[in-house]
Amino acid sequence: MKILLLGSGGREHALAWKMSQSPLLTKLFIAPGNAGTAQLGENVEIKADDFENLGRFCLSERIDLVVVGPEDPLVKGVTDYFKSEPSLKKIPLIGPSAEGAKLEGSKEYAKEFMVRHNIPTAQYFTVTKENLKEGKSYLGTMKAPYVLKADGLAAGKGVLIIHDLEEAQGELEAMIKGKFGAASSKVVIEECLVGIELSVFVLTDGKSYKILPDAKDYKRIGEGDTGLNTGGMGCISPVPFADEEFLEKVEERIVRPTIEGLQNDNIDYTGFVFIGLMNQGGDPYVIEYNVRMGDPETEVIMPRLKSDLVECFSLMAEKKLIKANIEVDDRACVTVMLVSGGYPEEYEKGKTILGTEKVKDSILFHAGTALKEGEIITNGGRVMAVSSLAGNFKEALKMSYKNAEIVNFDKKYYRRDIGFDL
Ligand code: AMP
Ligand code: GLY
Repeated sequence: MKILLLGSGGREHALAWKMSQSPLLTKLFIAPGNAGTAQLGENVEIKADDFENLGRFCLSERIDLVVVGPEDPLVKGVTDYFKSEPSLKKIPLIGPSAEGAKLEGSKEYAKEFMVRHNIPTAQYFTVTKENLKEGKSYLGTMKAPYVLKADGLAAGKGVLIIHDLEEAQGELEAMIKGKFGAASSKVVIEECLVGIELSVFVLTDGKSYKILPDAKDYKRIGEGDTGLNTGGMGCISPVPFADEEFLEKVEERIVRPTIEGLQNDNIDYTGFVFIGLMNQGGDPYVIEYNVRMGDPETEVIMPRLKSDLVECFSLMAEKKLIKANIEVDDRACVTVMLVSGGYPEEYEKGKTILGTEKVKDSILFHAGTALKEGEIITNGGRVMAVSSLAGNFKEALKMSYKNAEIVNFDKKYYRRDIGFDL
C-alpha cells in the first residue's frame, strides 16, 4: 500500500514510525513532514491544506490511502474535497468530513452534539455580540472560576479560566470583539469542572469503534503546571488513576454514545476521535473533542500499540473496523518534549541538534526539525519528543530524562517534572 500522511509534527513522526513497521506498507510519503519523517519515507513539499496539489500528487503516485494528521485540513474539508472529485473519490482518507470535524472546529457545535446525545459535559451558554449583555449577566449567576472558550480554532489558546467576575466579563467582551480574531466572535461560557484530566482515543469507521490506550499530557510550560499553555510538554500512558471501572464508564457514557450520535446525525466520520475528559469525583465529563490524534499523546500511544496500524486503517477505509484486533503493550510509555527556549512565546530556529545518534533506549520523535546540509536543525517551538517504554512510568521517565540530556541544541528547555502529580 502507498500511503500519503499529512502533517509535520511529532504526531506525524510517531504515526509514520508505526506505519513503517507494517508489512502492508510499500511506500510512505509525508506532506510536508520533518527531518524525522524523512528517515522513514519521502517528504513532499505540499502544504496540508493545498488540496488541489495533494489530489494531483495522489493521482500521479497512485496513492492508496491518505492519513490526515492535523485538524486544520479536516476542518477546511480535505475529506469532502477528495470525495467530491470524480478522479479522487476512490482514495480513502483517515480523517472525518468537515461536518464531523466541527466537533473540534466549533465548541458550540460540540456542546450541542453532546446535549443531543446525552453525553456528560459541563453546563454552557453561548454568547455572540447580539447577546453580550445576557452573557455577562449569565456569568454573574455562576460560581468562579469562569471558563470562556472561543468557539473556533485558536491554536490551543482560545480557552480562558478566570477567577474574578469583573475580569471575566471584561474578557468575554474582548473575545467577542476579536481577541482571538473570528474564532472568538462566538464564545462558549462553561461551568468549571473540578478533577483530574485525561484523554481517551478512539478509532472509528463511523459504524464501530476501537479504543486505543489512554494518556495524560502536561500542557503548561512551567514545572508544577504553571505558566502559559503549550501544545504539550510531556505525556504518560496508561494513566495510573484511570482504572477499569472508570474506563468502563467512559466507554458506556461517552464513547458509545458519541459513535452512535455520529451515526444518528448522519455524519460521515472515518478517523480518530480524541476525547479530553475530566474525572470529577469518579465520573467522566467531556471537556473537548478533537478529530485527530493528540500531540504528544501519539508519541506515547503508538509505541504501546502492538497491532498493525496500516491494517487498522485499511479496515477502517472498508468500514470493517469491527474485524480489527487492537493489542496493547502492558508497559508504560512516557514522553518528554524538548522545546526551543522562549516557547510558547518568541523563540529562535535553525539551531543544530546534536547527540541523537547516541540515544539507544528511547525513541526520538521529531516535532519541529528540518534538515540543512545534512544536519538536523530546530525548526519549531516543540523540537523533539523523547519517548521511552518500561515496566512503570517512573522507570520510563528515568530513561527519557537521561536521553533528554544527551540530545542537545542551544537554549534547549524541557520540564523535569512530568508525572509529578501522579
Ligand atoms: P480545551 O481547549 O477545551 O481542551 O480547553 C483547554 C483546557 O482548559 C483544558 O485542557 C482544561 O484544562 C481547561 N478546561 C476547559 N474546559 C474546562 C471546564 N469546563 N472546566 C475546567 N477546566 C476546563
Ligand atoms: N496535546 C493536546 C493536543 O494535541 O491537543
